[in-house]
Amino acid sequence: MAECARRRADLAGMIGTGSVAVIPAASQKVRSNDVYYPFRQDNDFWYLSGFNEPDAVLVITSEHGSDCHVSLFCAPQDARQARWHGDYAGLDAARTEYRMNDAYPISQLDDLMPQLLQGRERIYSRLGQDAGFDQRLIGWMHAQSTAQLSMPEELIDVRHLLHELRLIKSRFELEMLQIAADVSCRAHARAMGAVCSMHNERDITASLMHDYISSGCQSAYPAIVGSGENACILHYTDNNQALPEGGLLLVDSGCEYQGYAADITRTYPVNGHFNTAQKALYELVLEAQHAAIAKATTAHCWDAVHDAAADTICAGLCALGIVSGGYEKAMKSGSYEKYFMHKTGHWLGLDVHDVGDYRLAGESRQLEVGMVMTVEPGIYIPPADESVAPCWRGIGIRIEDDVVVSKGQARILSAALPKSVADVETLINA
Ligand code: GLY
Ligand code: MN
Ligand code: MN
Repeated sequence: MAECARRRADLAGMIGTGSVAVIPAASQKVRSNDVYYPFRQDNDFWYLSGFNEPDAVLVITSEHGSDCHVSLFCAPQDARQARWHGDYAGLDAARTEYRMNDAYPISQLDDLMPQLLQGRERIYSRLGQDAGFDQRLIGWMHAQSTAQLSMPEELIDVRHLLHELRLIKSRFELEMLQIAADVSCRAHARAMGAVCSMHNERDITASLMHDYISSGCQSAYPAIVGSGENACILHYTDNNQALPEGGLLLVDSGCEYQGYAADITRTYPVNGHFNTAQKALYELVLEAQHAAIAKATTAHCWDAVHDAAADTICAGLCALGIVSGGYEKAMKSGSYEKYFMHKTGHWLGLDVHDVGDYRLAGESRQLEVGMVMTVEPGIYIPPADESVAPCWRGIGIRIEDDVVVSKGQARILSAALPKSVADVETLINA
C-alpha cells in the first residue's frame, strides 16, 4: 500500500497542480449466460490502488504537485453479498487499509464527481477505451458548478504518463516479477523432466496449471504447448495433440503473481535427445538469444536487442543453407524473416506485453535501469517449405527469458530454467 501511495504521488506530480486523474476499475465479464470469467483487475487501476474489486473508480487530485488527495468510489459492505460471494472491502477499509483520503459508495459517483472536479483545470483519464465512461466524464465536466467555480475544460489521455511510470520497475515490482519467474521456472522444469512419461500436449498444459495454482499464482496468458509442426504456429493454443516421438515440443507459458507476469519459452525433444537438424537450429536460436541478451544494457537502445538476434539468425540460416543468396543479401532483403517473423521481445510487467513506448520522437529508445523485457528469438520452418531440405521442415524453436535491464549485464529472472542442449537433455533423462 505504501508503494501504491508512492505511485499515486508520482502520477500527481506528472499531471501537475490543478489536475485530476480518474481511473476506473475493471468490470466483471460474462462468460456465458449467468457465469462470469474469473475477475481480473484492470492493470492501471491495480497499479495505483492495490484494490482488487470490480466497478470502483479512483480519483487522484494533484493539490501541489505530488501532494495529492485520493478518493475511492467502491461498493460498501453488504450482508447479503457477504453470504453469497464474500464481502466487499467497504468504505472503512478503503480509508484505513488502502490509505485513501476519502471513500464513497460507487452509487454516488455521478452525484459527487462534479463537486470533486470544481475549480480544477484538466482531467486525465483513459480515453477511447470505454465509450460509456468517456460520456460520463464529459457529462461531469458539463455539470453546473455549485460554487461559482469553473469546471475543467481539458480532457487528456493519462496513458502516456502512467505507462511511463509502469515501464520502470521498482524494487518491489522486481521482487514480484522474480517470484512469478521462479514459480514458472519450477513448473517448466517439472514438465520438462516428466515429458518422457507424457503422451499429449494436454498433459504438459495440465502440469503447468497445477503448479501455478498450487503456488498461489495463475496463468498469465493461455499457454502455448505445441509439439512437432504445431510449434511453427506462433499463437497455437489448442494444446490437444499427441506428442510425436522424435519431435520437438515448444512450451511458452508463464504465471502471474500479484498481477506481475512471467513469459518463458523452452523447446525440447519429446524423447530426450535432439537429432542433428534439431540441434543445429536450437543452438542457433540459443546463440541469437545470448547475443540479444548481451545488448539488454543501458549502453544500447531497444532495437539493438532485436538487431543482434536477427543478425545471428540470418548468418546461421545462410551457413546452414536454409536461406540462400548469402548473408549480405539476406539481411538487406529480409529473406530470413520468412523463418523468424516476430520481434525479439517486448516489455514485461503487469501486462505480459507490457505498456510503455518502444520509440521516442521516432527513435528507438535508450534502455534504462529497471526496464524489464523478454528476449525470445525463434526459428520456424514451415512444414511444407520445399525450398529447404526435408530434415528442416516442420521444426519450430523459440527460447524466451525475462530480463531486467541493468548498467552492466542484464539480470535474467528466468535463469534457473535449463536451456543449453546438454542441460535440457540431462534434465529430461535424469
Ligand atoms: N507468450 C506470448 C509472447 O511470448 O509474447
Ligand atoms: Mn511467450
Ligand atoms: Mn513473450
